[in-house]
Amino acid sequence: MKQRRCFALLLLLCMAPLTNSWGAAPALIPAPAKMVVAEGTFRLTRETSICANAGAEAEARKLAVALRTPTGLALPLKAGEPKPGAIVLQLDRSLEPRLGAEGYRLSVTPTRVTICAAAEAGLFYGGMTLRQLLPAQVFSAKRTTRAPDGGWAAPCVEIEDRPRFAWRGLLLDPARHFMPPEFIKKLVDTMALHKLNVLQLHLTDDQGWRIEIKKHPQLTKLGSVRKESPVHGDRKRGDGKRYGPFFYTQRQIRDLVAYAQVRHVTLVPEIEMPGHFLAAMVAYPALSCRGGPFEVRTRWGIEPDILCPGNDAALAFVKDALTEVCELFPSLFIHIGGDECPRDRWKTCPKCQARIRAENLHGEAQLQTWFNHRIEEFLASKGRRLLGWDEILEGGLTPGAAVMSWRGIKGGIAAANAGHDVVMAPTTHCYFDYAQSKAPGEPECIGGFIPLSRVYEFEPIPAELPESQRHHILGAQGTLWSEYMWTPRDVEYFAFPRAAALAEVVWSPAERKDVAGFERRLQDHLPRLDQLGVNYRKPSAADDRK
Ligand code: ACM
Ligand code: ZN
Repeated sequence: MKQRRCFALLLLLCMAPLTNSWGAAPALIPAPAKMVVAEGTFRLTRETSICANAGAEAEARKLAVALRTPTGLALPLKAGEPKPGAIVLQLDRSLEPRLGAEGYRLSVTPTRVTICAAAEAGLFYGGMTLRQLLPAQVFSAKRTTRAPDGGWAAPCVEIEDRPRFAWRGLLLDPARHFMPPEFIKKLVDTMALHKLNVLQLHLTDDQGWRIEIKKHPQLTKLGSVRKESPVHGDRKRGDGKRYGPFFYTQRQIRDLVAYAQVRHVTLVPEIEMPGHFLAAMVAYPALSCRGGPFEVRTRWGIEPDILCPGNDAALAFVKDALTEVCELFPSLFIHIGGDECPRDRWKTCPKCQARIRAENLHGEAQLQTWFNHRIEEFLASKGRRLLGWDEILEGGLTPGAAVMSWRGIKGGIAAANAGHDVVMAPTTHCYFDYAQSKAPGEPECIGGFIPLSRVYEFEPIPAELPESQRHHILGAQGTLWSEYMWTPRDVEYFAFPRAAALAEVVWSPAERKDVAGFERRLQDHLPRLDQLGVNYRKPSAADDRK
């Protein structure tokens, strides 16, 4: 019976004309792959119950909690045959070939809502789409005292949806400016609204070490504090204010990982090495080529002192740290940075030069590759994969490395052509720390210009990449480097609504892209962000002006 309902929905969607015109269609972001809007509405009422088949119970409970809070409706979970007016969640593993793990079918009729998926993630995303079909107040964290005009009504639709890319990410940088765990949770919630599913945490840098490592406690004792930071408005001058200690305890990390998992967001840790490693060497100067002493960097930019790969103890040290990182983060990919690594110190370091000779390497770029290879093998022994910025291509990629392409897309193309997986995060489209408008009154930022429309234009699959290698493009990621983001409100301002545009880039089929339609839908989407209390930037028609 349940199978048949799913099948009927499938038939309807197959027959539906694919159109790029959304007209008065519901303002869903990201746009679903296929949607047919029908007559009528479904209403949440005191009679509405939620039914789940075997395996769908946890997602049904989450959806019930999400809907109960704002509506104040009981929405009891009921076993057995659904009553008229029910919301039904069905886990059906046989849908996997068609929907993957994250796809879903959503049928909204006046008498029933049905969400079918092959896995829990798909049920979650179907539930998120249902929430977007309801009035924006459904995203309120508080009980809505007066039901919206028209009640808690969703238009009748038949949707079949699945993401275009598996990696739909954002990067948060708590190293330059620390972001409290409660904010990470809020960001995860806002990502889930947009069906974004990867949050990379840039946990270490020259300006701070922000993750507790039990075996090496000095890392946070000394590395999570800096003497001062650049002044607002004058990046060359210091503010004279001690910053820190700020870091995440292991307990907080476990709590964040679990919170994100419930929302189908993977937290990917980034532990920078061998460059951007100064905060660690403040605590343990012997990890460097010259031995220190060092202090945590008080200006933005890149530090010339980096990890010494000629030193066996330095390798053992990062393996210790990564062991604890792997215990905390279940993510398949562990990001090891690898970017902006000035290798000058290695040129004059006897240990590094001895390593180059002993390993028959041709210069310092290959020494970085040799180091990456050791780390890659170590991560592989724990069932993990190494991911690094595109500089890891310079001395030759290690066999299993995946590349995050930030200096444009060339690195990503080279890596994919060589059979490596790639996440696209180019400065041309994905750097959300760049200005979104040149209008007066915009906050200080690192520079650059990426208006909302530029993000929306992004195509993660380069035209020149042969068909046979395109599957290596895992997806794309927006970066929120925090040099000029002091608070969570600043992060939200830079992130949204650009992350909404990125969400559509990585979720919706390329052929459905429609910037005018996106901008229209965004007008109805922003009230959802208002309900979530997100400090987004209000887009304006003038933003594209150079
Ligand atoms: C980077 O922006 N240095 C990855
Ligand atoms: Zn060295």
